[in-house]
Amino acid sequence: MTKKRQETHSFEREDEIIGRDDDKAALLKLVLESQSEENVYIIPIVGFGGLGKTALVLLVYNDEMVKSHFELTMFVCVSNVFDVKLIVANIIKSVTNQAPDQNLEMDQLQKQLRDKIDGKKYLLILDDIWNEDPEQWSRLKKLLMGGTNGSRIIVTTRSLKVAKITNKCESHVLKLKGLSDDDAWSLFKKIAFEQRYVDSTNSTFVEVGKQILKRCGGVPLVIKTIASTLSLKETENEWHSFKEYELAKISQIEGDILHTLEL
Ligand SMILES: *[C@@H]1O[C@H](CO)[C@@H](O)[C@H](O)[C@H]1NC(C)=O
Ligand SMILES: *[C@@H]1O[C@H](CO)[C@@H](O)[C@H](O)[C@H]1NC(C)=O
Repeated sequence: MTKKRQETHSFEREDEIIGRDDDKAALLKLVLESQSEENVYIIPIVGFGGLGKTALVLLVYNDEMVKSHFELTMFVCVSNVFDVKLIVANIIKSVTNQAPDQNLEMDQLQKQLRDKIDGKKYLLILDDIWNEDPEQWSRLKKLLMGGTNGSRIIVTTRSLKVAKITNKCESHVLKLKGLSDDDAWSLFKKIAFEQRYVDSTNSTFVEVGKQILKRCGGVPLVIKTIASTLSLKETENEWHSFKEYELAKISQIEGDILHTLEL
């Protein structure tokens, strides 16, 4: 099975993110303050698809305090293929804004990389890692350890196993959870009533909306998907029918909700 997703990029509008203030503060602390024995400290963020791991990382990555704290910041989308040579090339590209010559051998690429990052205090984001092979990880890690004290690598992943490979200390893994009920409702309300077909203060729609929201597990991607579907429905009947039929189908397959939404 291939695990496809949209390639991420290092820009996110802050006003589109709801309910992640505490997580942002926790991550900022790890990035800016926490002490570590190693010069380059690795921070894994784990959580299933749709929780907004990348969005959270980008909030921190684009924070002015973070930008001025590091000499160098780099963002690389890894996704399903963990090819060390490709990742190294993409890191270089993130620094220079230019893809390295495709004909370069690993040895030359590695020299270029070291040339860019060694001796610098850097922040590197490796977004969406699936690789569960410790050997592969350690091949990459070796190339990145030349940063000076205070350097950070943030890894996002859906798998706790991957997280543990990148940082053996489980207490240092940031586990992302679903949104609180209030935040989930704010997000839902913002999108579901966006088109103004229905009135966001009408108790009929508010009630059905809250019942639907209960099944979304606080997962932002699920909430956004369902709320935007609802935003195009204009009558009470349509909202009810969504809840009774379409949503009922989704909820039966718990744990696989994203896959179902994709379908
Ligand atoms: C990095 O710096 C911190 C304090 O600034 C220190 O406690 C830590 O031991 C240093 N780590 C290394 C590997 O030198
Ligand atoms: C709320 O919406 C329902 C269904 O469209 C409608 O019958 C009802 O009059 C509305 N209530 C108010 C207070 O506008």
